[in-house]
Amino acid sequence: MSAKIISGKEISDSIRGETAQRVASLKKKHDLTPGLATVLVGEDPASQSYVGMKNKAAKEMGIFSRQITLDADIPEAELLGIVEGLNADPDIHGILVQLPLPDHIQESKILLAIEPAKDVDGFHPINVGRLSTGEMEVLAPCTPAGVVQMLLRTGNDPSGKHVVIVGRSNIVGRPMASLLLRKAKGGNATVTVAHSRTPDLGAVTRLADILIVAIGWPELLKADMVRPGAVVIDVGVNRVDDDTRERGYRLVGDVAFDEVKEVAGAITPVPGGVGPMTITMLMSNTVDAAVRQAGIQE
Ligand code: GUN
Repeated sequence: MSAKIISGKEISDSIRGETAQRVASLKKKHDLTPGLATVLVGEDPASQSYVGMKNKAAKEMGIFSRQITLDADIPEAELLGIVEGLNADPDIHGILVQLPLPDHIQESKILLAIEPAKDVDGFHPINVGRLSTGEMEVLAPCTPAGVVQMLLRTGNDPSGKHVVIVGRSNIVGRPMASLLLRKAKGGNATVTVAHSRTPDLGAVTRLADILIVAIGWPELLKADMVRPGAVVIDVGVNRVDDDTRERGYRLVGDVAFDEVKEVAGAITPVPGGVGPMTITMLMSNTVDAAVRQAGIQE
């Protein structure tokens, strides 16, 4: 039997609609326009495209957005000064510095300079700490926050379930575990984190009611590693060579979709699965940040 396909695009569209309504209501009731600043250093085409999509999404939802584009050779001190300026700017409630940064700039130093209340990526150590201690009023990293929404909105509440996460990155695996462990809606799961050094990965992944794969390894997860009926969330986006495509590659996830969909109960595709959720949750975080900074009730 073939798995139910979880459409990130559809879920993302409904959250975007809700976010646009929140923004409209904040403007009307409180004269507050949430503002997002994106900072792009250098000319990496993928980063340019991501930042462009973030600004477009902001505009579509009525969020004020300001893109700051800087030369790749900008000194670290100058970039720190720009972040300080945004920290102090009352029109800006969310700051996103697109990663990766050029080698001469220490990423951790820049992330540490962002005011935690404006850290809509959820990468500042203060926000990482708050999330891992189970605080609710926190800006959580966008991709794992999006995965929680996908589970809740498809009737797959993780509460009481065994969730196996494959991957331990700071952007997905670790914050994913923290979110799922919280004593709150979207949490209360039993969580196992497996990774590249886990021996017999299949023995672990087969225990999962919900399997979240974010390891950056094309089609690593095969059908025999999935318990029949499990929910499979594929966070991976990998380019693999494909001469039949005009651009010379195609995108695949970390899950061997065609075979796993015959075993799983539900599965996310790549593209069109988790991908669209990340930018959507960034906008939702920006609105949350604006509300908290203004000290108002929505
Ligand atoms: N580069 C790739 N993904 C991300 C992200 O989620 N946030 C930022 N700031 N940079 C990224």
